[in-house]
Amino acid sequence: MTANVLAVHGGTPLCGEVSVRGAKNFVPKAMVATLLTAAPCRISGVPDIRDVAVVRELLELHGVRVGDQAPGELLLEPRDVELANVADIDAHAGSSRVPILLVGPLLHRIGQAFVPDLGGCRIGDRPIDFHLFALRSFGAEVDKRPDGLHITAPQGLTGTTFELPYPSVGATEQVLLTAVLARGRTELRNAAIEPEIIDLICVLQKMGAVIGVDTDRVIRIDGVDRLGGFTHRALPDRIEAGSWAAAALATGGDIYVRGARQVDMMTFLNVFRRLGGAFEVDPTPGHEGIRFYHPGGDLRPVALETDVHPGLMTDWQQPLVVALTQAAGLSIVHETVYENRFGFTEALVAMGATIQVYQECLGGSPCRFGARNFLHSAAISGPAKLHAAELTIPDLRGGFSYVIAALAAEGSSTLHGVSLIDRGYEGFLDKLAALGARFDVLG
Ligand code: EPZ
Repeated sequence: MTANVLAVHGGTPLCGEVSVRGAKNFVPKAMVATLLTAAPCRISGVPDIRDVAVVRELLELHGVRVGDQAPGELLLEPRDVELANVADIDAHAGSSRVPILLVGPLLHRIGQAFVPDLGGCRIGDRPIDFHLFALRSFGAEVDKRPDGLHITAPQGLTGTTFELPYPSVGATEQVLLTAVLARGRTELRNAAIEPEIIDLICVLQKMGAVIGVDTDRVIRIDGVDRLGGFTHRALPDRIEAGSWAAAALATGGDIYVRGARQVDMMTFLNVFRRLGGAFEVDPTPGHEGIRFYHPGGDLRPVALETDVHPGLMTDWQQPLVVALTQAAGLSIVHETVYENRFGFTEALVAMGATIQVYQECLGGSPCRFGARNFLHSAAISGPAKLHAAELTIPDLRGGFSYVIAALAAEGSSTLHGVSLIDRGYEGFLDKLAALGARFDVLG
């Protein structure tokens, strides 16, 4: 999709079938893991999204040969890895947070790494202090310069014991990608255990790593001398699947999401059902998919709290808020993962939604943002009749939410910056069209 300005005509329920491929928050990390070996690696189920393209460019800058084997299948050949030109890394990395994850593998491979200023959605400060603390814990030296971070490991990397202040997905991946070839054992406490993390551990185990995940969120890694290649099919994108499910509710539609996997979406499915949505897991052997639909009648208000896995994934929050604007009553959402993930609601209010945001921890247990001035709780009163508006896409999931709000609204909305949605939703416009959405590309 190269469209950037859309006229979206509301009032049509989204009905039909879409398919999801590999998870945006896994595939780029599996690609980075190829730096840990000189052997060929194959990843299938790769979505055609910007976040994958950015990492592909970064790996190629470092000498990895990346080839398309078949639709959605990459062959990566990391035989000759070398340090890339700093200016090139900077030019390619601005829109992604993944570059920080190249550090551990590059330190093992060539003894140095460069990290430019990181991108990613503006949903909070997005610091990397946990990453840098972990890298230093392994023996890395971080030199902060005006153009970014220059990181070296003069004494090599040695296994360490490290407790995360918060179960950060990225920091957990940082430790995994560094510990597997470090000398000795690494013990990571308070680790993230999202399905995407477990899939990355599967990849590393296929490569020859020794990694155990204990019941108390402790991950133990025994460093090995070398790692081999791997062949792996990525787990499906549960966030995209949940986004389309929320769209079905918000527009009164019926969407079959081919590739959606129940086991990764249990918490979401409970919320979806409590909200008044209906779903059917495809019973056909060998078929993976879930039908999400609005069964008629009023949607019901709910109190939600986002959390680390197995809690309600924060990336599902924004599309769900649009569905909550259509629920008959008062819903509460307490966002405990990011401090500033309700900025997108201002535009929904301009469209006629009744949403109030608060700095208090509403509805659930006090979180780390409660005592600080972050508007991280929201009360949503519905059902609200949404009317068309002119909108600018604020971030990836907020962007998806604006499109479904415009589809649920009366009249035609104009949306700017729609190409940002390309970062995480493959073939977004084609999927919208397949579901009967009425829109025109204006630019
Ligand atoms: C990953 O981001 C995902 N992105 C996010 O998805 C997802 O929302 C998030 O994990 C939580 O599940 C990718 O995988 C590319 P974190 P990440 O480190 O790793 C704080 C989407 O829309 N923190 O788990 O960056 C941080 O500020 C995106 O697909 C530190 O304080 O998230 C946040 O409050 C959005 N210091 C919390 O931890 C650090 O060094 C969770 O962040 C790192 C994180």
